[in-house]
Amino acid sequence: MSALQHPASDAVVTARDLRVWYAGPKGPVRAVDGVTFEVRKGEILGLVGESGCGKSTLGRGLLGLLPEGAARDGSLVVGGRDVLSMSAKEARRLRGGELGMIFQEPLTRLNPLMRVSDHFAETLKVHEPRLPRKEIERRSLEALRVVGIPPTRFRAYPHEFSGGMRQRIMIALTLVVRPAFVVADEPTTALDVLVEAQIIRNLHTLRAEFDTAMLLITHNLGIVAEACDRVAVMYAGRIVEIGDAREVFRNPQHSYTRELLRSTISLETDGLHYIDGAPPDLVAPPPGCRFHPRCPDAMVVCAQRTPADKVLAGGSRVACWAAEERAGVSGLGPHESAPLEREEIGVADEA
Ligand SMILES: Nc1ncnc2c1ncn2[C@@H]1O[C@H](COP(=O)(O)OP(=O)(O)OP(=O)(O)O)[C@@H](O)[C@H]1O
Ligand code: SF4
Ligand SMILES: [Mg+2]
Repeated sequence: MSALQHPASDAVVTARDLRVWYAGPKGPVRAVDGVTFEVRKGEILGLVGESGCGKSTLGRGLLGLLPEGAARDGSLVVGGRDVLSMSAKEARRLRGGELGMIFQEPLTRLNPLMRVSDHFAETLKVHEPRLPRKEIERRSLEALRVVGIPPTRFRAYPHEFSGGMRQRIMIALTLVVRPAFVVADEPTTALDVLVEAQIIRNLHTLRAEFDTAMLLITHNLGIVAEACDRVAVMYAGRIVEIGDAREVFRNPQHSYTRELLRSTISLETDGLHYIDGAPPDLVAPPPGCRFHPRCPDAMVVCAQRTPADKVLAGGSRVACWAAEERAGVSGLGPHESAPLEREEIGVADEA
C-alpha cells in the first residue's frame, strides 16, 4: 500500500481498547488502560491531563516507540494496517515515512558538522530516494517555512542557531517527509510564547496543505483551544472525555475535565485552584471511576462501578456517572446516586 493510502473512513489511526504497560517491581504499571478513539485525516487532536496520566505513553504506544519491557495489546490500526501484529521491520518502515514523532527533547540531535540543508537531504533521501535535488530543496524550504526559519539560513550549521531554533529545525525534519500522522509530545514547552503561537498557526497550514493528522500532547489548554479540532482528556490511563474542542471547553461533561479546566482558568482570574490530591498509582488504581477519591461530585456508585463511555449532549463521549445523571440516562437508584460520604473516600491523598 502506498504511503498515503488510507482506509475508506477518514480515520488515520484507530485504537480499540488499547493498553500499554511497563514492567514494574510492584507489578505492571498500566499507563494506558483500555483507550478507544481515532485520529482523523487532517485533524489535530489535543491530548490533555495531569502529569503521569499516560499521555506520553499513549503517544509512544501509537508509534511503537516504547522502551524495553513495555507491552501493548488491544487493537491498533494505522493507515488501514493492524500494527500490533506487524513485524519489527514493517513497523520500522512505517515509522520512517507515514508516522512521525516530535519530542520535547529530541532523541536524535543535529549533527554539528552537517549543514541544515544536508540534514534535510539525508532525511528525504532515506524516505524518497529518487527525489531530484531541486525538489529536495523546495520541500526543505517549505518545511522550514512552516516552523518560521527563513530560507537564508538553509545552509547554516546547527551551532549558528539558538536552542529554540534548533528545536524548530527538528520539527521541520519530521514534517518534511509529509507523514500521514504525527505525535507531537509537548513540542512547544521550550519555546517562547510568540514562537509557540507561530508554530501552532503553521501547523494549521501544514494540515491544510498535506492532510497530516496530529496528536498534540500539551499541558497548555490555551493551545488546545486555539489549535485543536477535538480534545481527549486523559485520567489515570483512560480517556474520560473526548469531543469537539470548543464544545468540551464550553461545556465540559466529565467532572475531571471541569476541574482541570478550572485549575487552569483560575490562574488568571480568582487565584489558584488545584484539584485536591494527585493522580493514582497505576499499579493499583482505585476501583470504579478512578477519579472518585478526588471528585467533588462523587456518588456511591462511583466507588463501585466503572462508568461506561456514553455519547451525551453536544456529541462528546464521556465516562462519568454524574454526567449520565444530568442527562437523565444513568438508571441509578437512590442509594447508588447518594453522595459518596467523606469517610468512604478512604485513602487521604497527599496534595
Ligand atoms: N519507562 C517507564 N517505566 C516504568 N514506568 C513508566 C515509564 N515511563 C512512564 N512510566 C509510568 O507510566 C505512567 C504514565 O507516564 P507518562 O509519562 O505516560 O505520563 P504523562 O501523562 O506523559 O505525564 P507528563 O505530563 O508528566 O509528561 C506514570 O506512572 C509513569 O511513572
Ligand atoms: S464518575 Fe463519579 S467520581 Fe467519576 S468523575 Fe463522574 S461523578 Fe466524579
Ligand atoms: Mg509526558
